[in-house]
Amino acid sequence: MKEPIIKLKNITFSYDKRVVLNSLNFEIYEGDRIGLIGPNGSGKTTLLHIIMGLLKPQSGTVEIFGKIRKKEKDFIEVRQKIGFLFQDSDNQLFCPTVKEDIAFGPLNLGKTKEEAMEIVRKTSQILGIQGLEDRVTYKLSGGEKRLVALATVIAMKPVCFLLDEPSTGLDEDTTEKLLNYLKANTKTLLIVSHDKSFLNKIADKIYLLEQGKIKDLGFHLNKDLPQ
Ligand SMILES: Nc1ncnc2c1ncn2[C@@H]1O[C@H](COP(=O)(O)OP(=O)(O)OP(=O)(O)O)[C@@H](O)[C@H]1O
Ligand SMILES: [Mg+2]
Repeated sequence: MKEPIIKLKNITFSYDKRVVLNSLNFEIYEGDRIGLIGPNGSGKTTLLHIIMGLLKPQSGTVEIFGKIRKKEKDFIEVRQKIGFLFQDSDNQLFCPTVKEDIAFGPLNLGKTKEEAMEIVRKTSQILGIQGLEDRVTYKLSGGEKRLVALATVIAMKPVCFLLDEPSTGLDEDTTEKLLNYLKANTKTLLIVSHDKSFLNKIADKIYLLEQGKIKDLGFHLNKDLPQ
């Protein structure tokens, strides 16, 4: 059997003394397309931050691409290869202009300026945001910021996508565009969302985070969950 891309073992995490994740186990294999649901405050965002090394669990192990990841430097490779969309776009975007934000990751991976600009053009086209390239990022609308944040993730060509509420703030046509892109161009995904119809269209299995643990619901929302 193949090794999982991400393997969390017995993860316990508390903010101050409040336990959010409690001996949680979780694995993602190549080709998995998982929807993660759970009530507000159940720890979904916290879980993604632990995978990306932005929060450190008090106990348990984070294994990614077959290696235990503990220290800050262990997560450099993780952040290059796993595309993480923050729940809040303002945490994702930090450059003065949209094109600089989208080019940032590719330049960091060693692409030339010309290559990075070509990636900016292509990625903007996918999401229909060509007109935003020269705009000042912090002056964009919420939905526009969401799209630029998504573009920064797609521009990195990650092997695995972790998307925290990707469709929040997007209009119907734009959501459709995003879904079509994800369906056709991505292999391994974990999507956190309260939008069940969005998850229905993209996820193969649905997990529930509740009381600090993940449960495989063992069914697809489409077929079995009351809508
Ligand atoms: N920096 C922090 N300090 C203290 N408590 C925090 C902090 N960040 C989150 N929490 C708490 O931890 C719990 C889990 O938060 P988290 O953001 O992971 O939930 P979530 O499942 O992503 O919720 P939502 O669906 O609302 O996005 C919540 O009760 C939240 O209030
Ligand atoms: Mg959240």
